[in-house]
Amino acid sequence: MKTALTLIALLTLALGLSSFEYSNSTYTSFEEVDTFQLPENINTIFQNSCYGCHNNDAKAKKAKMKFNIDKLSSLKKSKLVSKLNKVAKEVKNDDMPTEKILEKYPKMALSSEQKEVLISWAESTAAALLAE
Ligand code: HEC
Repeated sequence: MKTALTLIALLTLALGLSSFEYSNSTYTSFEEVDTFQLPENINTIFQNSCYGCHNNDAKAKKAKMKFNIDKLSSLKKSKLVSKLNKVAKEVKNDDMPTEKILEKYPKMALSSEQKEVLISWAESTAAALLAE
């Protein structure tokens, strides 16, 4: 029973989301998403722990293709929401920054407070964008 309810909830959510993307894709103006700005505290965390691999000029091709901080402000709303959710997921799972880089540069590690700040910012910003 519980599983059925969860399934229905998920389906409703999926349907809601896809119609949302559809209805918004036509009028998501460039200006609207261009006003997206990183708060100072988030920018500081990104600079210290993420930016090196996730910027326009990064050598790590795969990293910048999947998540480019320089390009966030030019993404369509639906894309931006999906990137924000991925940020939350990667940080929750302790997948980012990568283990390898942390071995070399332990200072890039996120403190538990920074993780919390980053996750709650990413999730609340995604939710706010969806509610617009
Ligand atoms: C040492 C380089 C490096 C650093 C530093 C780094 N990443 Fe990554 N990141 C990668 C690579 C490489 C990938 C691609 C992984 C793959 O899919 O194989 C990636 C992928 C991602 C993705 C996309 C995941 C997906 O499924 O599409 C997100 C989001 C992300 N990183 C966020 C972050 C955040 C947030 C930080 C800082 C807290 C960070 N990364 C720091 C190298 C890095």
